[in-house]
Amino acid sequence: MREEILSLKNQAIAQISAAKSTEDLEELRIVYLGRSGKLTELFKKIKTVPGEEKKLVGVLINEAKNALVSLLSEKKNSFKESAREWFDPTIPGIKPPQGHLHLVTKAIDEIAKTFAQIGFVRVRYPEVDWDWFAFEGLNMAKDHPARDVWETFFVEAPAHPRYGQMVYTPHTSSGQIREMQRVKEPPIRMINIAKCYRRQIDASHYPMFHQFEGLVIDKGISIVHLKGTLDYFARNFFGSQRKTRLRPYHFQFTEPSFEVDITCGICMGKGCKVCKEGWLELGGAGMVHPTVLKNGGVDPEKYTGFAFGLGVERTYMMKSGLSVPDIRLLYSSDLKILRQF
Ligand code: FA5
Repeated sequence: MREEILSLKNQAIAQISAAKSTEDLEELRIVYLGRSGKLTELFKKIKTVPGEEKKLVGVLINEAKNALVSLLSEKKNSFKESAREWFDPTIPGIKPPQGHLHLVTKAIDEIAKTFAQIGFVRVRYPEVDWDWFAFEGLNMAKDHPARDVWETFFVEAPAHPRYGQMVYTPHTSSGQIREMQRVKEPPIRMINIAKCYRRQIDASHYPMFHQFEGLVIDKGISIVHLKGTLDYFARNFFGSQRKTRLRPYHFQFTEPSFEVDITCGICMGKGCKVCKEGWLELGGAGMVHPTVLKNGGVDPEKYTGFAFGLGVERTYMMKSGLSVPDIRLLYSSDLKILRQF
């Protein structure tokens, strides 16, 4: 029996020492020390050992058991240690996902900063406003056909006795009269950047879009100041190569009125598939109509002013190097697209 115990002990020690994982150790523990394990079975045999020998065999089996228990625990700890040693702190961590500003927000910031450098103050006016501020005060009577162009959303609410119905502002020009009323006495140099709403949707129109409206009123303001401001903006926002041009147009609230074009960023004004003849339309502009000045409480005999209103999305889409073919992509929430900007 003594040899049997020693040989079982040696065999167990050899196997435990060679174990490769904690799972192997658990298996060996069961094989030797489990309820029907080999060493446990020897314990059961003690009663068959004759008198004097019984005590000695008991001691040997206990020693073997203690040796195996402590070897198992040592080995288990050594696995834990080596697992810790394998931790490599130089491996780059997992980066948490990080978002960024939407490109329209970036465009708005950039536009506001560009105008701030030449003294334009950013203002904000209600995006839901009375008809009078959006149209009538801007020299556009209710039944004027020009209003069809704006394809306005009306709010179903009681009309104001003086200012008429409530509308989702179809352009930032509604801020012109509000700014004149706020400042009271010129000079005025505002940049109003806001959401606009129209019942339109296709590759270049969206029902909710943004415009930036410049308004300058002072003594002696002329078209030269308007052209100089637009050229400054084009150079700073699009790059020194780009030029603007004013094309005669008609708006009720400016006289004379113009459409503002910029040289195409792809062909730089030579003419290509995108622009056809070298120019792309940015928005509208003109000299503030005397009736509008009067409606804002500004004396047209004393002051003159210019205004322009350009689309933020379309302006940004015309930046050199950006080729966004459809305005709807900007608001599609498609991360594959948004992550590119
Ligand atoms: C106006 O809205 C005039 N208020 C601009 C103005 C201001 C003229 C001050 C004179 C003085 P227009 O409807 O052309 O003009 O719009 C100006 C620009 O807004 C367009 O050139 C385009 O860039 C943008 N825009 C208009 N409608 C949409 C739309 N549905 N989706 C996206 N951009 C639009």
